Amino acid sequence: MSCKVIIGTQWGDEGKAKIIDYFCRDTDIVVRYQGGGNAGHTVVADGVKHIFHLVPSGILHNGVTCVIGNGLVIDPELLMHEIVMLEKEGFDVKNFLRISDSAHLVLPYHKIIDEAMEEFRDKKIGTTKRGIGPCYADKSLRYGIRVGDLFDKEYITQRITNTLKIKNLQLEKIYSKNKLNLDEILNLVDKFRKRIDGMVTDTRFLLYNSLEKNKRVLLEGAQGNALDIDHGTYPYVTSSNPTIGGALAGTGLNPFDINEIVGIVKAYTTRVGEGPFPTEDNGDDGSKLREKGGEFGSTTGRPRRCGWFDVELLKYTKRLNGLTSLALTKLDVLNGFKKIRVSVGYSVNGKRLQHFPSQMLDKVEPIYEDIDGWEEDISSCRNYDELPENAKVYVRFIEEKVGVRISVVSVGPDRSETIVR
Ligand code: IMP
Repeated sequence: MSCKVIIGTQWGDEGKAKIIDYFCRDTDIVVRYQGGGNAGHTVVADGVKHIFHLVPSGILHNGVTCVIGNGLVIDPELLMHEIVMLEKEGFDVKNFLRISDSAHLVLPYHKIIDEAMEEFRDKKIGTTKRGIGPCYADKSLRYGIRVGDLFDKEYITQRITNTLKIKNLQLEKIYSKNKLNLDEILNLVDKFRKRIDGMVTDTRFLLYNSLEKNKRVLLEGAQGNALDIDHGTYPYVTSSNPTIGGALAGTGLNPFDINEIVGIVKAYTTRVGEGPFPTEDNGDDGSKLREKGGEFGSTTGRPRRCGWFDVELLKYTKRLNGLTSLALTKLDVLNGFKKIRVSVGYSVNGKRLQHFPSQMLDKVEPIYEDIDGWEEDISSCRNYDELPENAKVYVRFIEEKVGVRISVVSVGPDRSETIVR
């Protein structure tokens, strides 16, 4: 039995999709377990760039079944768009995409409310405006519409009719927005039902059966540890659990099904949206990281905030998720930096903190150590030994400080630009 979980260890955008795509060569089933269209997964295969928001990154691999798990919130328009795009490119979506009947639907009112709530907030979160928070809120309030509901016409009509009454009141009276038309939403869900007919199933049992048959399963997290609704930098977080608990809740697997938990970590740190970011660099180095790393959101196009590696965050992520190894991405972006800064801990008023704080992260001062950089372009390195000595020093430094082995080093966006140690 093999079940590996891929977890983002920072604030998302760690390059998970590339590593998942790489691992797919030894995988039978890839499962997304939380989040929705807020995620943007970029995979470059044979020089062609693909960006996914909902479909798991494994869809580009022949014979790999891709599962959208029960923990997701699915925007029907977005998923239909991705399916059409993939089919146009010749991918067999019908036979290789499976969608949980318990996943929730992001409907047009969720997106409008997401945007409207941001307008009303005194301190903005900087959401992706994809309706994620309002949809998960409805799930908790038990207003949610699930994929399985689509197949009972009477039930879904009655449920959407009732929900829309409440939503239209909210839109009009609270947010001064236009009311939404019931028939348009009913038409949308009906179109979606027809499009995904034959792909919907109880994905829990699909996974149980697959593991019993010794299939190799990979669970794909979206966003990252510090954006977790429970363990992240609340309220500047997403509305789901990208951490290991979310992998279980969002698939129906149990802890004993899992035997590897791989943290994906970028060689520096980025964050998109608002919220504390202790190692942010607002100077020339931050701009250089953004330019060299192409650090612009793949969902919203927003420039990402950039800064240095944060060991304290990684130690927290390791503890929270039980990481068994790390994949270090975008090491090539550090080519040409004379000094590379690493924050090895935090202090507040000159006193060193013992761990990543649950509050007031905006008050901490990073404690930096500087590592000598390297001049060489490392993107053509394919073996660890080919890396310049200073790049190896950097990798070992992180490994030792965090206390988790780095088993993969990525030196470029393409599948081939990957070193396995
Ligand atoms: P939401 O998930 O759209 O509600 O946004 C909440 C916060 O999470 C915002 O700061 C977003 O920028 C951030 N966020 C959501 N999805 C991602 C992602 O895939 N990568 C990085 N940040 C994300």
